[in-house]
Amino acid sequence: MKDPRNALEVEGLGMVFDVSASWLNRVVERKPRRYLRAVDDVTFAVPRGGCLALVGESGCGKSTVARLVTGLYRPTSGTVAFAPGRDGAPLAAQMIFQDPYASLNPRWRVGDIVAEPIRELRLRETEADVTDRVADLLRTVGLSPDDMAKFPHEFSGGQRQRISIARALASEPEFLVCDEPTSALDVSVQAQILNLMRRLQDELVLTYLFISHDLSVVRHMSDRIAVMYLGRIVEEAETEALFDAPQHPYTRLLLETIPDLHAPRRRRAAPGGEPPSPLAPPPGCAFNPRCPVAMPVCRTDRPAETARCGAGRVACHAAAATASAA
Ligand SMILES: Nc1ncnc2c1ncn2[C@@H]1O[C@H](COP(=O)(O)OP(=O)(O)O)[C@@H](O)[C@H]1O
Ligand code: SF4
Ligand SMILES: [Mg+2]
Repeated sequence: MKDPRNALEVEGLGMVFDVSASWLNRVVERKPRRYLRAVDDVTFAVPRGGCLALVGESGCGKSTVARLVTGLYRPTSGTVAFAPGRDGAPLAAQMIFQDPYASLNPRWRVGDIVAEPIRELRLRETEADVTDRVADLLRTVGLSPDDMAKFPHEFSGGQRQRISIARALASEPEFLVCDEPTSALDVSVQAQILNLMRRLQDELVLTYLFISHDLSVVRHMSDRIAVMYLGRIVEEAETEALFDAPQHPYTRLLLETIPDLHAPRRRRAAPGGEPPSPLAPPPGCAFNPRCPVAMPVCRTDRPAETARCGAGRVACHAAAATASAA
């Protein structure tokens, strides 16, 4: 940990998946092994009490970063370092997933789902104290203590996400990794869950790594935004700076495709087509086939990350040229 003000520091993180056919198929069909680089040299930090958003199209590696950060995967390269928490042990992190139904055991009552981490970690001594704590947690997320007796299928999508949040909070984490927590919900319900998460962050002094494919969702959640493309961070900046003056052509593309709130039906088509397959990334800058300002160097040389004035960074030959001309 280089800066004690950070809750999390991730450095040079890489994840390569072996996606080869089975041994038999490889031998019979003479297929080579195949590797997919899902996360490539990703570096970022999240200050204590802050919220960093990780944004990019589906398949760019966001969930893989979330799983690496929470220890569900072991990285191929790089490091993940949490600051010491209140008790001196590394900060406890919990994850909230996109699909609350899949992450809640359907055969368990809500009371047991939320109580499990409390019992497991022996955070309360008696069963009566466990029940009190579960009741408190349900109230905290806007549910009723009476909901303890119910099963997950008796709730709406938004309520189920509240149950997942209560369960995540049950282990008293200081850090939450939220992987598209509202993407499966209706727009009106999304806003309620986002407001709840913002309130919890203030009240419980939580630190968030907040993942979404949608810039408009993270705008009001995050202090800083890191934009990912094909496994790499291509731009990182303070939220307002990113919206006011996006430096990377891909960030500009994402901003252009945010649905217009005043004309929601007029959803602009994704310009420049789809992202390439991470199994065969283009040489040079991975964004070059879609980039409206690509130059010859973009097809041969991968742009290095450059710091620019202010606290942001960007990986783009064109942005670097503008910065050095200024
Ligand atoms: N367990 C896995 N095995 C093989 N490939 C994977 C695995 N998990 C993710 N991938 C691939 O890694 C890339 C990044 O996936 P993911 O992290 O889920 O992206 P995102 O969350 O941004 O949609 C995708 O191409 C995906 O197909
Ligand atoms: S490096 Fe080149 S291709 Fe990549 S985003 Fe910048 S200008 Fe476009
Ligand atoms: Mg994902």
